[in-house]
Amino acid sequence: MVQVRERLAVEPMRESDVPVVQDIERSIFSTPWPRNAYYRELASRNSAHYIVLRRELPEGREIVGYGGMWRMYDEAHVTTVGVRRDLQHRGYGRIVFAALIQAAYDMGAKWVTLEVRVSNENAMRMYEAFGFKVIGRRKGYYTDNGEDAIVMWSDSIYSPRFRQALEANLQRIEADVRGLRRSLGHQGA
Ligand SMILES: CC(C)(COP(=O)(O)OP(=O)(O)OC[C@H]1O[C@@H](n2cnc3c(N)ncnc32)[C@H](O)[C@@H]1OP(=O)(O)O)[C@@H](O)C(=O)NCCC(=O)NCCS
Repeated sequence: MVQVRERLAVEPMRESDVPVVQDIERSIFSTPWPRNAYYRELASRNSAHYIVLRRELPEGREIVGYGGMWRMYDEAHVTTVGVRRDLQHRGYGRIVFAALIQAAYDMGAKWVTLEVRVSNENAMRMYEAFGFKVIGRRKGYYTDNGEDAIVMWSDSIYSPRFRQALEANLQRIEADVRGLRRSLGHQGA
């Protein structure tokens, strides 16, 4: 049997990507960011890192997911992660998140943190598989419905435990997409 694998690429988000990213965002988040927020983030090149995941189809390239991160001192804060609604739970989110972790190494961060809605079990499961732990809860953090935020942190991203979890995810990705590890620039010990 000949298996045709999808060609995927993680690339820096460009201003021209923002309309598509916002279309995806509006369909997956109850409170999408304000219109200009992405342009502002993309202009903050020193502390912000935003990426898109594209797939190549015979009819052209399209964005399937995206993510972003802010660096503050030793900490990298994941600001957003999203995968097109009709393409969720096929492994794309794992790729976007692995690329953000890679960006955290590249930015010189030591820890990664994020907030997630208490009801968002799917996302939490993904973060836990990357070794993130629940360390707190912000009461009524989300203003649209008063939902609590769960605060999650990585161990030091240089700890053996964190590296092991990342490695397991990279292997999982590799099993799906040959060659992806190269483009993610896997961090050696
Ligand atoms: C959360 C999100 C980014 C994950 O991306 P995804 O492509 O759907 O996830 P993946 O297929 O890469 O799965 C990674 C892991 O996430 C969890 N997960 C994701 N979707 C899931 C689903 N529908 N049901 C159960 N688990 C799910 C699983 O643990 C999964 O691992 P598994 O394959 O071993 O089951 C995506 O579902 C999304 O965009 N959701 C809406 C926006 C959002 O909630 N963003 C996060 C805000 S903090």
